[in-house]
Amino acid sequence: MKKILITGGAGYIGSHTAIAMVNSGFEPVILDDFSNSEKSMLVGLRDILGRDIQCYEGNCNDKTYLEQVFAENDFLGVIHFAAFKAVGESTQKPLKYYANNIGSLLVLLETMEKFEVKNLVFSSSCTVYGQPDVLPVLESTPRKDAESPYGNTKKIGEDILRDYIKSKPGARAIALRYFNPIGAHPSAAIGELPLGVPANLVPFITQTAVGIREKLTLYGNDYDTVDGTCVRDYIHVMDLADAHVKALEYLAQQELDFFDLFNVGTGNGNTVLEVIHAFEKVSGMPLNYQVGPRRPGDVEKTWANTDKINSKLGWKAQYSLEDSLRDSWKWQQKLEESRVLK
Ligand SMILES: NC(=O)c1ccc[n+]([C@@H]2O[C@H](COP(=O)([O-])OP(=O)(O)OC[C@H]3O[C@@H](n4cnc5c(N)ncnc54)[C@H](O)[C@@H]3O)[C@@H](O)[C@H]2O)c1
Repeated sequence: MKKILITGGAGYIGSHTAIAMVNSGFEPVILDDFSNSEKSMLVGLRDILGRDIQCYEGNCNDKTYLEQVFAENDFLGVIHFAAFKAVGESTQKPLKYYANNIGSLLVLLETMEKFEVKNLVFSSSCTVYGQPDVLPVLESTPRKDAESPYGNTKKIGEDILRDYIKSKPGARAIALRYFNPIGAHPSAAIGELPLGVPANLVPFITQTAVGIREKLTLYGNDYDTVDGTCVRDYIHVMDLADAHVKALEYLAQQELDFFDLFNVGTGNGNTVLEVIHAFEKVSGMPLNYQVGPRRPGDVEKTWANTDKINSKLGWKAQYSLEDSLRDSWKWQQKLEESRVLK
């Protein structure tokens, strides 16, 4: 059985990846401390798959516990999602972010080495590029200084992997640089659960549409883009999930001591206003929004060059922006229904 450990597997991207893994003949095993997720995600997974996924509740930084999990399972590889991801909070509590995001990676690598588990896929981010000088941005584009401690943990994580693999541990790793994941499983059984006020555009849009937020504020409309609002590469979370399957399959075919990086995006950029109008079209709901000042730290425009992942991993995004927004909207409506029924 091709068992894969998914750290942070109860979270947004991890839970969708668990589905993609099962659909491709892998057996995911989740390890999550539920610091930023809910057990209801496991119920959603069961509803989709018709069976339970094995789940360990624990912290990836806990070496003793992690070794116990590895001793009980024969893992073919690991997908390491477990991390804190709130950019704003990371500027207030940098040590919390370095301890969790870097600490968990170090403990994981030591444990993988001890148990001779050879394949690792690491969650990185397009945040490592900052505002790229050339668009669409290539993997070979030099990274910029990180804008936040969170962004720095992704840069450092990539560097740790590169140095580690250079030391010839007999392992292989891929870092996937995600662009902007949105959407939910088309069944609406699982999706994103932002805690508090969402920092990302799409959850803010859907929460405004159901009335949880009074109105959406656009952070600036005087950028150098087609309509003045920021541009991002929005990728459906199921497409992103599938990229992890392709990365694992590709890793298994490589020589040992292998490391590479791939952008995971659609290759298209959309402005904030384009996303709002696409949402209004798929939902049939007019959105209450206003234009506010620019938000410090926001990148003006970024989208991915996806040639490398298309050709090497044989992966290409399948879902459109409208598909993604439709699935985000279905998920928000489902959350609202269960909230009203409580
Ligand atoms: N969502 C995005 O926009 C985005 C973009 C780029 C990169 N990423 C990265 O992708 C990964 C997954 O992101 P997500 O959106 O699914 O986040 P998420 O918060 O929904 O999922 C992360 C999961 O990890 C768990 N976790 C955190 N620290 C842990 C620890 N030490 N031990 C065990 N479990 C722990 C949380 O409880 C949560 O379930 C993260 O590494 C994140 O930095 C996310």
